[in-house]
Amino acid sequence: MNKVVIATSNKHKVKEINTFLSSHKMDSVGLNEFDPIEPPVEDAETFLGNAELKALYYSKKLEMTVMADDSGLCVNALKGAPGVRSSRFASENASDEENNNYLLEQLSDQKDRRAYFQCVIALCLPEAKRIIFFVGKCEGVILNELQGAKGFGYDPLFLPDGASKTFAEMTSQEKNKISHRGIALGGVEKFLTFQF
Ligand code: IMP
Repeated sequence: MNKVVIATSNKHKVKEINTFLSSHKMDSVGLNEFDPIEPPVEDAETFLGNAELKALYYSKKLEMTVMADDSGLCVNALKGAPGVRSSRFASENASDEENNNYLLEQLSDQKDRRAYFQCVIALCLPEAKRIIFFVGKCEGVILNELQGAKGFGYDPLFLPDGASKTFAEMTSQEKNKISHRGIALGGVEKFLTFQF
């Protein structure tokens, strides 16, 4: 099977993707194993647009099969925000802690705490000859306080439907079983199994 490049510098995403791929005996390589590449500007208005532009960009540079993830949190009471701005919700270079506190502030007088994570993975075959999209969604609620120390981003505030713990209280394996990224990766796995 060809090696797949995981085109993200987010080490938490890399960990989740690697956990998935290695448990499915699939070979991957991270961007850190190549000479540094200036990342593209993620200026699309949709998850799909950003995933597409990242996958095309790195596939052209590396001439390999590339997988790029774009994902974020969409909150009902905030009309789908922060969405594609999830990593920059509180401010341009906000930390996870600042984003989580800002989210709690925004929802302080809200009864509707429903939200979902969305993930789009774009898989681009070498020379951009073909690009395929895989999507995953995970619904749940935003808690009133942080719970758990694993994971990243909004994990400590997100309680998935049917779960008794937040994403931040789960191992990568547990999270992958139900998460937006795990669901999208399931599609990638099926596709790659038949392709190579
Ligand atoms: P991206 O790297 O531009 O796709 O930004 C993704 C942002 O969405 C992250 O920085 C997090 O704030 C949020 N996010 C995406 N996936 C997750 C997840 O699985 N858990 C928690 N936050 C996530």
